[in-house]
Amino acid sequence: EENPRSSWYKGHELAAKLYHHLLLESPEGKRAREYLRARGFTRKMIETFQIGFAPESWNFLTDFLRKRGFEPDDMAEAGLLARKGDDGRPFDRFRGRIMFPIWDKRGKVIAFGGRVLDEGSPKYLNSPESDVFNKGRLLYHFHGARPSIRRKNEAVLFEGYVDVISAYRAGIEHGTGSLGTALSQEQARMIRRNADKVILCFDGDNAGRQASWKNADILQAAGLEVAVAMLPQGMDPDDYIQHHGPERFAETIVGRPLTMMEFKSAFLKESKNMDMEADQLKYVEEMLKEIAALPKAIEQDHYLRQLQEEFSLSYDVLKQELGEKIKNTV
Ligand code: UTP
Ligand code: MN
Ligand code: MN
Ligand code: MN
Ligand code: MN
Repeated sequence: EENPRSSWYKGHELAAKLYHHLLLESPEGKRAREYLRARGFTRKMIETFQIGFAPESWNFLTDFLRKRGFEPDDMAEAGLLARKGDDGRPFDRFRGRIMFPIWDKRGKVIAFGGRVLDEGSPKYLNSPESDVFNKGRLLYHFHGARPSIRRKNEAVLFEGYVDVISAYRAGIEHGTGSLGTALSQEQARMIRRNADKVILCFDGDNAGRQASWKNADILQAAGLEVAVAMLPQGMDPDDYIQHHGPERFAETIVGRPLTMMEFKSAFLKESKNMDMEADQLKYVEEMLKEIAALPKAIEQDHYLRQLQEEFSLSYDVLKQELGEKIKNTV
């Protein structure tokens, strides 16, 4: 028997092909081609990620699908078309946007992220959640990256579509995206089933840093070893690649990730003026809290000695403080 949602899969597949064709070949797609070229997208990247363009029209996809025998109401339920209210007439949801197909675990297109060409809002319009598209249950380009993830026994997790794609150009083929800063346990388990290790490579802004800290816990709880490829303040992976080139990104950022403690230390220092004594003390306090949470005594001792050396503190006092922290947490 046919899958009751097979029209949804077929509709998405067809739309992806059409958008892709329009981007590459049509006069309407010219500005989008120029935009992508200016951002460093190569033809190969556009093809590998099946990037497309939705023309500035209210009925382009609607009419195309209708002519191919798809019910507009069904396509609105699938999220491909939109409508005002429950009985409003379906119309094109995505207009004048660069289209990034989103695949499910089996590699079927089930949704899109559409980016505006300029500064409009929202920057990315995503398909609505449905029976087949649940943002918390998939990772961007996971199906494509999976063989590489298994081979390397490692995944690199990014925030954005463009980050995954730019990193791919830098030779990082085991990259996948959470499509925003949130990460679910299910997404963590998806990675865990295919690798022992994950490198978090979120944006170099406060939101990205906070999310790395939080998501590391979720990933560790799923049984993954976590490291952080930390970007300079104000840059995301794609920005970094644009400024410093793909080789340097692969070698120094993803190639030399920080341990969780190194990342925490760097992040805690970043928001402080470490020339000020008060900030130094605050930093030591915060680090002690992290050290107290480490599972192994030998690790605790290692980081305690580092703190002691860095700030010429007494080891005994630190050890005593740590004892207090541990007492307070259990
Ligand atoms: P960012 O705001 O970091 O965008 O959001 P970006 O990926 O760097 O985008 P570019 O480089 O300007 O094109 C990270 C991710 O969060 C989701 C998208 O998946 C995006 O890639 N997002 C962001 C949305 O879904 N909607 C938005 O309006 C913004
Ligand atoms: Mn971001
Ligand atoms: Mn970003
Ligand atoms: Mn970006
Ligand atoms: Mn820049």
